[in-house]
Amino acid sequence: MIKGVIAIDGPAGAGKSTVARLVAKEMGYTYLDTGAMYRAITDKVIRSGTSLLAADEIGKIAEETSFKLHKPNGDYILLVDDVDVSERLRSPEVNKSVSVVAENERVRMALVAIQRELAKQGEVVLDGRDIGSFVLPDAQWKFFLDASIEERAKRRYEELVEKGYQVSYAEVVEEVKVRDRKDSTRALAPLKRADDATLIDTSNLEIMEVVDAIVSICRQGA
Ligand code: CDP
Repeated sequence: MIKGVIAIDGPAGAGKSTVARLVAKEMGYTYLDTGAMYRAITDKVIRSGTSLLAADEIGKIAEETSFKLHKPNGDYILLVDDVDVSERLRSPEVNKSVSVVAENERVRMALVAIQRELAKQGEVVLDGRDIGSFVLPDAQWKFFLDASIEERAKRRYEELVEKGYQVSYAEVVEEVKVRDRKDSTRALAPLKRADDATLIDTSNLEIMEVVDAIVSICRQGA
C-alpha cells in the first residue's frame, strides 16, 4: 500500500477537482489535477494545429511537455512548460477534444509516469479517471465521485457560462455524455471505479459535505 496517497476518480462534472483541491488543503497534502495534464496536452495540440488523428505527433508533444507544481499562495498551480495556462484548459474546444487525446497510448504513458513519480513522495491527492484503478492501485484511500447526468451537466454549464463562454445546456449535456462514453469504453485505463474505492454520490451534497466525508475517512485511517 502507498501510504498518504488519496485517489479521487469519477466522470465529468462529478465535482472531483473542486473537492480534491479542498481535501488536499485540509490534509496539508500536495494536489495534482491529472485531468489538467490531459487538457494541457490537448491545448498544445490545438494551438500547434496538429490533427487529432496524428497519433505520433501528439505522443511526441506529451513526451516533450514539462509539468511542475507551484504553490504561490497556499494553492497548487500546475505549470506547463513553466507557464500557468489554467485559464485556457476548461474551454469548450478543449472539452471537445480531450478524450481523443487521452486515448493516445504514448500520452497516457508519459503522464502516468509523472503521476506515479509524484505519488512516491506521499502526502498527495490525485484526481482523475484511472488513479485508483490503474495509476495507483495501491493508494491508501480511493474515492469514486458520481452524480446524475443532469446534475453533472448543470454544474458544467454553469461553470462555462460563468467564464463567459456561449453554450447551450443541451450542448453541454451532449458533450458530457460523449466524453463519459469515450472515457469509459477506451481500451487503455478506462474510467472505472476500483472495487475497493468508496463511492460517493454528490448529486444532493454540498461541496463541503463531500470534502468532510473524505477527510474524516482519511483521518480515521491515518
Ligand atoms: O473536470 P472534468 O471531470 O470534466 O474533466 P478532467 O478531470 O479535467 O479530465 C478531462 C479529460 O481528461 C477526461 O474526460 C479524460 O478524457 C481525460 N483524463 C483521463 O483520461 N485520465 C485521467 N486520469 C484524467 C483525465
